[in-house]
Amino acid sequence: MKIGVYPGSFDPITKGHLDIIIRSSKLFDHLIVLISSNPSKNMLFSLEERLFIAKELTKEMPNVSVECHSGLLIDFLMDKDIHYLVRGLRAVSDFEYEFEMALANRWLSSKGVDTIFLMTDEKYFYLSSSLIKQIASLGGDVSEMVPDIVNKKLKEKWKKK
Ligand code: COA
Repeated sequence: MKIGVYPGSFDPITKGHLDIIIRSSKLFDHLIVLISSNPSKNMLFSLEERLFIAKELTKEMPNVSVECHSGLLIDFLMDKDIHYLVRGLRAVSDFEYEFEMALANRWLSSKGVDTIFLMTDEKYFYLSSSLIKQIASLGGDVSEMVPDIVNKKLKEKWKKK
């Protein structure tokens, strides 16, 4: 069985991420969306919230599951004997960061893991979770760029603050 892992902080998950999930789920027998830790980011949504949202959004996708993991990504892959990572690429600016991570993961796995890159849909070229959070925090409308459940949760967050 060919299994792929799509890791990310997904804070929050956007339609751009969802597009990558749908497309990459067709490349594997099973795709795991992995809510991972990124120590260099301050999260708006808790791990539980991100897990809940991702599960809701993928519940109709029969070969997609959602898990979370803290620690090294490569440990998760090695434990489960998984050899493929999926990442989305937007602008050229993503390339250096993604190149570094792909090479590091390949090195850490002694060349046992490869990263497959999918070009983002052009509609989501400039989309990022930070941009969404910034627009939403200032009362802007992000409904075109995030799933309804995320839009609702963002509104709740800023109402509370
Ligand atoms: N559409 C829209 N936005 C997209 C996108 C797409 N197709 N693809 C990426 N993005 C955006 C995200 O919204 C996010 O925006 P933000 O920076 O404003 O939050 C950004 O691109 C990248 O985020 P994401 O894909 O969630 O990844 P990340 O960089 O936050 O996390 C991990 C990367 C989790 C995979 C990495 O940190 C990791 O592996 N962590 C585990 C620890 C580890 O093993 N470290 C060593 C790695 S070599």
